[in-house]
Amino acid sequence: MKKLLIFVFIVLFVAGCSSTENESTNNGNNLSSISTTQLSENDGKSGNKCFVAISGKVYEIKGSNKWIDGNHMESEGLASCGKDLTDVMNDSPHGISILTTSPKVTLVGQLSN
Ligand code: HEM
Repeated sequence: MKKLLIFVFIVLFVAGCSSTENESTNNGNNLSSISTTQLSENDGKSGNKCFVAISGKVYEIKGSNKWIDGNHMESEGLASCGKDLTDVMNDSPHGISILTTSPKVTLVGQLSN
């Protein structure tokens, strides 16, 4: 009887630990929330960082000579820092693959209002 109680206790303990782990790992991937105001402040001008939003995620673009003073030189005025560029990205030659293939792009958070 005593052994059975110890066994039940261990099973409950292990189940409790794994459910806590699931809650923390599923918690929005721990991305920080970035407001539309914070997004627009990071406009890539005057030494500001360059943030862009694509499909609710916010990315930083850093160290690219194709993004000068907040403007993406190849996009002819369509893409600039501090903005939601989801629609522009859909019309770009490289598409969203650039977000994962370019070492100059880093995921920094998710867009909130
Ligand atoms: C119509 C809009 C756009 C056009 C015409 C355009 C065009 C281009 C071209 C021709 C290149 C260089 C070739 C290449 O790396 O594939 C490039 C690079 C790049 N583009 Fe775009 N793009 C557009 C929109 C965007 C958007 C919305 C983003 C947002 C993240 C973006 C991010 C980048 C990055 C990070 C690079 C690589 C920069 C580097 O390696 O220095 N582009 N783009």
